[in-house]
Amino acid sequence: AFKELVFSGVQPTGNLHLGNYLGAIRRFVALQETYDCIYCVVDMHAITAELYQPDLKNQIREVTAAFIAAGIDPKKQIIFNQSQVSGHAELAWIFNCVARIGWMNRMTQFKEKAGKDRENASLGLYAYPTLMAADILLYRATHVPVGEDQKQHLELTRDVAQKFNNDFAAPIAERGHEDGFFPLTEPLIGGPAARVMSLRDGSKKMSKSDPSDFSRINLTDDADAIAQKIRKAKTDPEPLPSEEAGLAGRPEAENLVGIYAALSDRTKAEVLRDFGNAQFSAFKAALVDLSVEKLGPIGAEMKRLKADAAYIDSVLDEGSGRARAIADRTMAEVKDIVGF
Ligand code: ADP
Ligand code: NA
Repeated sequence: AFKELVFSGVQPTGNLHLGNYLGAIRRFVALQETYDCIYCVVDMHAITAELYQPDLKNQIREVTAAFIAAGIDPKKQIIFNQSQVSGHAELAWIFNCVARIGWMNRMTQFKEKAGKDRENASLGLYAYPTLMAADILLYRATHVPVGEDQKQHLELTRDVAQKFNNDFAAPIAERGHEDGFFPLTEPLIGGPAARVMSLRDGSKKMSKSDPSDFSRINLTDDADAIAQKIRKAKTDPEPLPSEEAGLAGRPEAENLVGIYAALSDRTKAEVLRDFGNAQFSAFKAALVDLSVEKLGPIGAEMKRLKADAAYIDSVLDEGSGRARAIADRTMAEVKDIVGF
């Protein structure tokens, strides 16, 4: 049996938003009550799409600040950035030799992110899922909280673990690992806002890379910006339905109700019990108040922390040291199993 451990990561690509908060960071905070957790700023993933990012260092600090401001305790859990622990790159190379090209060719996120000019995408973007598998399995993590968008990558992680366990079954058994060397990591996906959609287009997910600032609520938005964006959010002309079934075919309404539900820790059905038949103007006013109440303190704390770069850097250095201690033990065994 494997010791229960949670691992997850967020890319430091700027513009942290409500989707990252509800789909990931807020759940990281809750999980620390039950699990030992390792939360990683995945800076090596951040250069797969855009290579030179002059502000990368500050973007790494911003994600770190968001983790702490949201309530992750850096003394109890490990918070660090990926590039400081060399095991990620080393294990990713071995996993590049475990994973099959056919597996990689099925990854839908690569197709979305590479777009039409696939020949010109970086090899790193293509190999992103094996680096993600290495991130998780370097710590032999058993559970990974991620948004719906990462489910396929987690399946690949399990395939990599399984093939490594099978192909190296003899040396793994010799070393006394009865259940294989790597766990088959479980995804933790859930809650009413596992996927937060754009405020401008209910068919697209809220994303850092959307060129419209009105498509997302950034975690550092102040009360005025939050209010403006919610008031301008796209809706349809009908009042809210009184039951969840009435949200079908109304993606914008469903998204706003889902956000309200997630921020108030209720279900969509419960929210509609209060707001059924309300006009959007009234519902949006309530959503503004709730969003400002829940996000305002986090944004303010992020700004305070970001002003203290030395503190943020010390958290990352200390976390990297603790992560490296675990990673080095895994890599020593992996090298031995492979036969290096
Ligand atoms: P992005 O997808 O915006 O580039 P990341 O890839 O760094 O962000 O994702 C960080 C975490 O936030 C992941 O666990 C991802 O599943 C989650 N996430 C990102 N966008 C959303 C969204 N719109 N709704 C819910 N979760 C999201
Ligand atoms: Na993502």
